[in-house]
Amino acid sequence: MIIKKQRRWFIKALTGIWLGGLGAVGLITAFSYLPRPPKKIFLKVKLVPNKVIVGPEYFLLLSAHGPIALSRTCPHLGCTVNYDPEENIFICPCHQSRFTLLGRYISGPAHKDLKPLKLKHTDAGFVLEIA
Ligand code: FES
Repeated sequence: MIIKKQRRWFIKALTGIWLGGLGAVGLITAFSYLPRPPKKIFLKVKLVPNKVIVGPEYFLLLSAHGPIALSRTCPHLGCTVNYDPEENIFICPCHQSRFTLLGRYISGPAHKDLKPLKLKHTDAGFVLEIA
């Protein structure tokens, strides 16, 4: 009788632990799908034509239409895209996708443009939003 009660208690405890773990994994998964607020970066820089500012996650440059910011994340598989000053284009080191300075796709497996980033110009500098 006592062994039967202990076994029942043990099975209930194991089931509780298992369900608790399952619930925790479910909550973590649900939270990972919630939208996160964009990361804001303040940049106190002066943009000049034909000069690309290369940040850890962004390119910032002055185009003919004004200042633009582009994500450095390759639309193919997410490698960090580099600026090639000799060719004056952006090149992904992983599979050699190429993009114009406006972020337009030229060649390679990416088949998409670089993602533009929100950019606000203030009196003190630029505020960049990285989603
Ligand atoms: S990850 Fe950039 S081209 Fe493949």
